[in-house]
Amino acid sequence: MNIDLSGKTALVTGSTQGIGYAIAEGLAASGARVAVNGRSADRVDAAVADLRKTGADVVGVAVDVSTADGVDQLLRELPAVDVLVNNLGIFGAVPAREITDEQWRYYFDVNVLAAVRLIRTYLPGMVERGWGRAIQIASDSAVVIPEEMIHYGVSKTALLAVSRGFAKDAAGTGVTVNSVIAGPTHTAGVEDFVYELVDKDLSWDDAQREFVRKHRPQSLLQRLIEPNEIANMVTYLASPLSSATTGGALRVDGGYVDSILP
Ligand SMILES: NC(=O)c1ccc[n+]([C@@H]2O[C@H](COP(=O)([O-])OP(=O)(O)OC[C@H]3O[C@@H](n4cnc5c(N)ncnc54)[C@H](OP(=O)(O)O)[C@@H]3O)[C@@H](O)[C@H]2O)c1
Repeated sequence: MNIDLSGKTALVTGSTQGIGYAIAEGLAASGARVAVNGRSADRVDAAVADLRKTGADVVGVAVDVSTADGVDQLLRELPAVDVLVNNLGIFGAVPAREITDEQWRYYFDVNVLAAVRLIRTYLPGMVERGWGRAIQIASDSAVVIPEEMIHYGVSKTALLAVSRGFAKDAAGTGVTVNSVIAGPTHTAGVEDFVYELVDKDLSWDDAQREFVRKHRPQSLLQRLIEPNEIANMVTYLASPLSSATTGGALRVDGGYVDSILP
């Protein structure tokens, strides 16, 4: 398969690090012009500079996409997008009965409403041009609700519904809308978390296997997922090759969710 995204403009929200950065890198390596996003101009500039070293065609947009003002500013800087990747997502453990109304609302604003607003913003242009991709990064937590972060799980379940609903809205237009269910992934934050739970003297390879064996035994992969493994699925979904896949939730979870269907 030859994945060619030349001539396409992609926006990846929350892409100064982690999975978003890997997605930006993957899309750019396939020829897309990629907009990198984060809240801080310094971190956006640093990510853009790193990606340009690989020859990538990237621009940076430092805005908080979880606010309506941020999206207005984004639209001024980036009026048209062919591939929208709603990667931004926050997570954190809070005991179920202690999650406050404010936390529930904040998770809804950042993990759900931001994606809805961006789809609403860019979908009409995609439909008008007869081609486009909207891809939401969900999580295994959307279907296996973690008791220590119900608010996160609920927000990701909602994101699956958002994707399915907008895929119906875009039916027959050449625009596809899908979500990707990412499983436990090796990002900087997760690496620190792993070393809090296993022997600090272990090599990374041994540490992650120990972590998965003890704390994520459902994983069939028996290691963490690398961000570029998520990016590979997103790059395929972003490409013309995925034209018959819409309204779906594609799993890159290492078999973590014990189910044949999402
Ligand atoms: N890591 C995992 O194991 C895992 C597993 C399943 C699913 N996921 C999902 O994958 C996605 C990425 O996760 P990750 O672990 O790679 O994230 P991460 O390392 O925490 O990175 C978050 C990114 O979002 C940016 N950001 C935060 N708030 C923002 C806002 N309001 N507006 C714009 N940018 C913002 C941050 O940049 P600034 O700080 O510069 O703003 C950063 O680039 C999330 O949706 C997450 O739920 C992750």
